[in-house]
Amino acid sequence: MADSAMNAASAFKTCAFMFMVCTPDLIFGRIRYSIPEELELGAFVGNLAQDLRLNVPQLSSRKLRLTSDTVAQYMKVNLENGILSVRERIDREHVCGQRNICTISFEVILENPLEVYRGEVEILDVNDNSPTFRDSTIALQIAETIAPGVGFPLESAEDPDIGVNAITAYTISSSEYFSLKTQTTEDGFIIAKLLLEKPLDREVQSSFQLVLTATDGGTPQRSGTAQIHITVVDINDNPPVFDHEIYRGSLREDAPRGTLVMKVKATDIDEGMNAELTYVFSKLASARVRELFSLDPQTGEIWVEGPLDFEEAQDYSLNIQAVDQGLPAMLADSKVLIKVIDVNDNAPEVKVTSGVSKIPENSPLGTIITLINVIDRDSGANGQFHCDIPKHLPFRLQISSKNHYELITSEPLDRESVPEYKIPFVARDLGSPSLSTHENIQIVISDINDNEPRFSESSYNIYVMENNTPGTSIFAVTASDLDLDLNSHVSYALQEKLIQNLPMSSYLSINSMNGSIYALRSFDYEELKSFQIYVQAHDAGVPPLSSSVTVNVIILDQNDNPPVIVSPSAQRGSAAIEVLPQSAGQGYLVTKIMATDEDSGQNARLLYQMVKSTEPSLFNVGQSTGEIRTARNILESDPTTQTLVILVKDNGQPSLSSTVTIQIRIMENITERITESNNLVSSPENFSDLNLYFIVIFACTSILFLVAIILLIGIKCKQDRTITQEYNSPSCCYKCGDSNDTFNHRPAMEETLRYPGTGRIVRVPEVHHYSVSLSPESAKSDFLFLKPCGAPTSRVQC
Ligand SMILES: *[C@@H]1O[C@H](CO)[C@@H](O)[C@H](O)[C@H]1NC(C)=O
Repeated sequence: MADSAMNAASAFKTCAFMFMVCTPDLIFGRIRYSIPEELELGAFVGNLAQDLRLNVPQLSSRKLRLTSDTVAQYMKVNLENGILSVRERIDREHVCGQRNICTISFEVILENPLEVYRGEVEILDVNDNSPTFRDSTIALQIAETIAPGVGFPLESAEDPDIGVNAITAYTISSSEYFSLKTQTTEDGFIIAKLLLEKPLDREVQSSFQLVLTATDGGTPQRSGTAQIHITVVDINDNPPVFDHEIYRGSLREDAPRGTLVMKVKATDIDEGMNAELTYVFSKLASARVRELFSLDPQTGEIWVEGPLDFEEAQDYSLNIQAVDQGLPAMLADSKVLIKVIDVNDNAPEVKVTSGVSKIPENSPLGTIITLINVIDRDSGANGQFHCDIPKHLPFRLQISSKNHYELITSEPLDRESVPEYKIPFVARDLGSPSLSTHENIQIVISDINDNEPRFSESSYNIYVMENNTPGTSIFAVTASDLDLDLNSHVSYALQEKLIQNLPMSSYLSINSMNGSIYALRSFDYEELKSFQIYVQAHDAGVPPLSSSVTVNVIILDQNDNPPVIVSPSAQRGSAAIEVLPQSAGQGYLVTKIMATDEDSGQNARLLYQMVKSTEPSLFNVGQSTGEIRTARNILESDPTTQTLVILVKDNGQPSLSSTVTIQIRIMENITERITESNNLVSSPENFSDLNLYFIVIFACTSILFLVAIILLIGIKCKQDRTITQEYNSPSCCYKCGDSNDTFNHRPAMEETLRYPGTGRIVRVPEVHHYSVSLSPESAKSDFLFLKPCGAPTSRVQC
């Protein structure tokens, strides 16, 4: 730079001389030099001696000097040759500022004689300054919406040089968006403006860097630059944009509150507040959606807020918006579709039409009892279900239509066996895990009169002691009816019939309410031993049902007849006469007393007893046979007429008796007669009716006796099992019964008795027990005494 400045200075020197030649012609006149600024020290400005036509030697003597301080500062005169030279660097801009013509005036004073010359040095401008901008960077902010054609004034550069050395042009680095427009003001300044050529879009390019160059017209040309930094200011001209137009998600219906469903995201290519987004539900979003879901305005996360229910809605549509913070704000809409996945959270719901169903027991098969409605609010397998009732019940389920079942009867019903059913009904869905609902269906079976009254026994035996008091209750039959209420209300009646030519109603009556049977007359065993009646029982159903039972009325014998002695027959008031040969030995059968008793059983069992005799040692009487035999040989001393009184008594309680007096005559010579009488049976001539009678009676008695012995042996055999414990007790209770049945293990209530009078086998009521009493003396004879053992009534005996 310094060199170029020197060269420039020498170039100006020549120019200055040429100029000077024309001007220094003044005595007391003016001299003028012209030099470029920035000459080197000592550079030649002018030759004062020559130009003032002074002798060089005079210069010192006349004390040449320069007056002006300014010129003295920058220049000096060499008094030895009169040359004016640069003393200090001269900066035109410093000396003159922006004045167009810069001169330094001076006066040259000489003494002896005093002479004053005026002169001036013009300082010529040299392009020594470059244009400069005050700030190296120019910052501009331009809104992106500014229309093309708008200009933005730029700061001017400065150049202290003048003229052509001052700024002559501005240029800008090339840009398709911007151009430069310059304008020269009246005072010659150039003003530059940045001109927008093309619409800006911050979202495409948000800033520009341009270089502004100012150039001057000097030679060499100088220039200065500044950076133009253009920031495109964002305008909220872009709406937010969601990632997806529609978001899709799914969610189990049992998702708890606070479950993250999904996250939506929108972006806004604007910046700052214009890109700051918040997420909200749009006005289209339903109130229900807002209850069930929450949307985080900052993050865009969607959370479960309320309980979901697949059965309420299978999907939800959430209308959401993203809103930026620009002014005015811009927004974007999106939709979130949330599918709710069914979870098996609903058990089947069972509705039974009627709480308690009532059906009559005779309902035909397939009768519909109740309707059952089952629904499951789940879907798919979770909503399908099976219904069931236990197999063993007489009911069945039948599908009538979707979700509707009919409970129908599948087997006959019987109220008397099962009056009520509680049917456990189960509906189970096919979800996993499966849910089920249990319901008890109550069914009451109503009564139908389908059971007749039933007597407690298949037949009854009533034992009535003869000579009973008329009008007393003798028995009570009971019949029960398994039905209910009136259907089981039993009344009793006797079936009319004739008994011995008299209407039954004259014998017995029955209490229709409770089955008590009353005897209306006094019975006589000897006249009527038994009869049969039929008792009918009716229920009060509509129509009524009835049944009847056979009742055997058995009159029991009372000892009301004394024994009657048939033989030997005696005239009234006198004794029977028997004859005995003297030769008869011991054991000779004198006679046999025959007696009868109209009573029966023990009351007719006769015992013979000698109550009086002339010679007690001579005769004895068979206690049961009634045979009178000799007890020893007849002695000479024995009186020939013996009188015996025989008592015949029955075994009744109390016993009745009769006596017979027999006179026995002992004769010495009646051997023939005795033989005769001994052969009485074989002698047809002497066979009388009485004898035949005796034989028949004897044979019958023997057969009966044989039967009794067989019976006794049988009883004894059975007794042997228990007799060891019981033998010592005076009386051993034993159940009496039929000779055949005694050996069978029949239940006590089934014990039967062959009643001598009736000739029939009749049932003995359970409560009646009988004992076999072994009397001390009968131990050898094995005779049986039957007497009641704990019998409840005295009229029952066997
Ligand atoms: C039946 O009713 C009558 C009269 O009320 C009564 O005397 C009798 O004892 C009753 N019989 C039974 C077995 O209840």
